Amino acid sequence: MARAGKEGAIKEIEKKVEALRDTIRYHEHSYYVLDDPEITDAEFDRLVNELKKIEAEHPELVTPNSPTQRIGGKPREGFVKVRHSSPMLSLDNVYNEEELRDWERRVLELSGRSEVDYVCELKLDGMSLALRYEDGTVQRGITRGDGSIGEDVTLNVRTVRTVPLEIDAAVVKKAGLPATFEVRGELLMPLTAFRKMNEERERDGLQIFANPRNVAAGTVRQLDSSVTAQRRLDYFAYQLLKDGRTHFDLHSKALAALQAAGFKVNPNHKLAKSIEEVLKFIQHWEERRDSLPYEIDGIVIKVNRIALQDELGFTGKAPRWAIAYKFAARGGITQIEDVLITVGRTGKLTPTARLKPVPIGGTTVSRATLHNMDFIERLGVKIGDWVEVERGGDVIPKVTRVMDDKDHPRGGKVFEMPERCPECGGHIVRTEGEADHRCVNANCPAKLRESILHFASRQVMNIEGMGDVMVNQLTDRGLVKSVADIYDLTQEKLLTLDRMGEKSAKNVLAEIEGSKKLPLERVIFGLGIRFVGERTAEFLAEHFGSMDALMQATLEQLQEVNEVGPRIGQSIVEFFQEPKNCELVERLRKAGLTLTGAKKERGTQLAGKTFVLTGTLVRHTRDGAKKLIEDAGGKVSGSVSKKTDYVVAGTEAGSKLDKAKELGVAVIDEEQMEELVGAKS
Ligand code: IVH
Repeated sequence: MARAGKEGAIKEIEKKVEALRDTIRYHEHSYYVLDDPEITDAEFDRLVNELKKIEAEHPELVTPNSPTQRIGGKPREGFVKVRHSSPMLSLDNVYNEEELRDWERRVLELSGRSEVDYVCELKLDGMSLALRYEDGTVQRGITRGDGSIGEDVTLNVRTVRTVPLEIDAAVVKKAGLPATFEVRGELLMPLTAFRKMNEERERDGLQIFANPRNVAAGTVRQLDSSVTAQRRLDYFAYQLLKDGRTHFDLHSKALAALQAAGFKVNPNHKLAKSIEEVLKFIQHWEERRDSLPYEIDGIVIKVNRIALQDELGFTGKAPRWAIAYKFAARGGITQIEDVLITVGRTGKLTPTARLKPVPIGGTTVSRATLHNMDFIERLGVKIGDWVEVERGGDVIPKVTRVMDDKDHPRGGKVFEMPERCPECGGHIVRTEGEADHRCVNANCPAKLRESILHFASRQVMNIEGMGDVMVNQLTDRGLVKSVADIYDLTQEKLLTLDRMGEKSAKNVLAEIEGSKKLPLERVIFGLGIRFVGERTAEFLAEHFGSMDALMQATLEQLQEVNEVGPRIGQSIVEFFQEPKNCELVERLRKAGLTLTGAKKERGTQLAGKTFVLTGTLVRHTRDGAKKLIEDAGGKVSGSVSKKTDYVVAGTEAGSKLDKAKELGVAVIDEEQMEELVGAKS
């Protein structure tokens, strides 16, 4: 008996060790390979220590592939290591006014001055990246790595649109830059691109990224640079080096020179003549950080005079001449009171934590998304747990950590996905290999509600006024059972809704009428075909030119379309195999929606020609002109070089026009451009 008991206990330990190893491997992969960690370093260490402890007590359980048997994690293979021209340092942090004043006192003491000029910059929350230029051409992009040695990520960096690939010698010279120089700056993902990418990933059943910084870091270390190209990263330059040293006498001059040479320098920087002015800048941006299109986590303050920077020098890993003032973290600790389920347009069930309300960064947070069951299981979160919640640039707060200490004991109630849809009682299915649970009832009211909201939303049919409240009533009262019913709405029907007056009803009807003129791609997007997002809808419309052609397309034909592979193709085929969906299209046709469009084959008349647009255009918008040129097979570039074929100059054209004249590039006006693309009729 005793022996059997002991064996049972060992089995239990074995099981626990294996489970721990799996968890550690999972997080190693997220951190090292994907650059997308989900837990803090401290938590990761705690897991490894726990495993080490058990292995020490039971050496017979140690295996050669246990995560404890190697030091560090698996480094990403495939990038060449490069030594930095001078170490890429980090910054020391201060967190309040007092610490900042202490830093200034040291600066003044060490420099023997009573006043020092500073440059205040935003502390951009991305990853630092060095770019080496020779004769105005980018040679290498290098990650920070350990500060001394980084990785050569040139191919990826070249896809970032704000990294100049080539700068004309005359421009380099005029900006006061040497022929060979190095730029350091921050690579980041703007919030709109981040949100859009996560929305698409969520829709496609892929794991979503925690924050834009992780995506920037992970993306620049992708082995396939076409992935980097799609992910719209941005680069801000903040340091200019020649042979490892700053090339100007003032940092502010270096910033101006970088800008003149065509680099993107963040415009929100300021010269400050006293620490009081620095504090004002800090306060200004701490209050306005949410209005920026990218994330910042503080302010960097730099001594402006380079000679003084040299005098002050470095301590270990950070310069004495600069400091990072970190904003208060926008996180908080609170308790999960319950987990609620919302049902999306595709039937996806999203668990959301209902939190004891907690103030975070100026707002009260009472909900946080838990994404799906995988996320819940990985975090190990239970109802009643105390959790750390973070509010980043993302609108929806996230649960980042489960607390477990004497002030924050663990909760006891395990959350389980319901077996029936909370909205309609329909069956819930989780397809093998997918993270999401879905309601499979085609008539689920939640799906209907969400699909109507999608259809009416601004990016789709843009029916203003048809928001949450209205759609809820329309579907609850059975006035709208499919998106086609929107077009059967009348004033009488609308007037039956709560708080609906004649004027509002008329407005809504006018909006509905207006939506009929929107182009084919919007209707395709509006159908809600799984995996068909805005961009794919556009490609499909361009390729097939009509809804009918799209409906009849075979899987093979669909795959000829840009970015459509077997998965998306199959989803489209299945969608149109369903008679109900074809009926829906027929009703939309009868209602007068636009189901045809111009089938677009890109022209070739401007193939190989590069254009630069400058000044204020009057006959076209910038985007419109760009589209005209691109549709004719031409390319539009941001800067003038010897390779530019035409500069299209509007009114008040400035430096680009000068440059064109200097280089002898043809300068044309808008009408001449129209003639070239053959658009003038
Ligand atoms: S200057 C030696 N300026 O912050 C000076 N850094 O903790 C090096 N960062 O690794 C950096 N915005 O990635 C500087 N305007 C800015 C910055 C900035 C963000 C990052 C950078 C660096 C980290 C230091």
